[in-house]
Amino acid sequence: MRLLRRLAKEVLGEEVGRKVWGRVEIIGDIAVIRKPPDVDLETLKILANELVRRLRYVRSVWAAVTPVTGTYRVREYVHLAGEERSETIYREHGCVFKVDIREVYISPVLNYEHIRVARKVAKGEYVINMFAGVGLFSIIIAKHASPSKVISIDINPIAHRLMVENIRLNKVDDVVEAVLGDACEIVKRYRGMADRVLMPLPELSVKCLPQAVEALKGKGVVHVYEFVTATSREEAVVEAKKIFGDALNELNVSYDFEEGRVVRSVGPRYYQVVLDIKISRRI
Ligand SMILES: C[S@@+](CC[C@H](N)C(=O)[O-])C[C@H]1O[C@@H](n2cnc3c(N)ncnc32)[C@H](O)[C@@H]1O
Repeated sequence: MRLLRRLAKEVLGEEVGRKVWGRVEIIGDIAVIRKPPDVDLETLKILANELVRRLRYVRSVWAAVTPVTGTYRVREYVHLAGEERSETIYREHGCVFKVDIREVYISPVLNYEHIRVARKVAKGEYVINMFAGVGLFSIIIAKHASPSKVISIDINPIAHRLMVENIRLNKVDDVVEAVLGDACEIVKRYRGMADRVLMPLPELSVKCLPQAVEALKGKGVVHVYEFVTATSREEAVVEAKKIFGDALNELNVSYDFEEGRVVRSVGPRYYQVVLDIKISRRI
């Protein structure tokens, strides 16, 4: 049984415990519990205090009271137990990231995705990460592959500031360049320069696909992320291919789906999918 639900049943009783989401998200020394609709915050505080007592590495516990919202894709939180601090150091694939869970997007669920993409980057590639957050894909690519450049764009000024710090902390200043602003506009500066463009923001991946494609050299790879409704994981990938196939058919390109996979299941019959698409621009 998932750790949090087991603990919840122990300290709050069977009935309340059953309502608690099983997975606790650990980000550095911060634990995040999703607030179930019919369990109040005072009850969750009892559970959170027990979590701090039992898990020595947890110093602060927060309840996520909304899903990610807004342009910056950040959840709203309420402090439950331990230190009232939302900044921490998050570690992934041998890299360190300063984050502030109340100010920037951060999700350990993308852990595998970060290294999966990094492993695809060939020596000397010019990479553009359009929706970089605090720089996870960009820095992990710089550390695990040998790109010539990673342009790392985000519109959230706090994410940008933390990304600049993270680039320095991980000693990749010679390769990764943090850029603040709207990627769909900024990417136009890099027309014809990129071997690979990452679009890890489902809300804008179709809309800004033409600009991403324009940023590619004659040919290259675009990684697109999208939410799709489907009855199975396999169908979710097929659906995503239809969406991006239609969008690419509007552009003057030929394309080939290199890989497609479900990144996570978001809700009943609702999935986040990534497609790696090889694209050749027709001159
Ligand atoms: C899902 S998060 C990215 C996660 C990040 N790549 C990671 O691996 O942790 C999406 C990011 O896109 C940023 N964003 C939203 N709209 C944007 C835009 N028009 N241009 C650039 N960044 C944008 C948000 O601030 C947020 O940090």
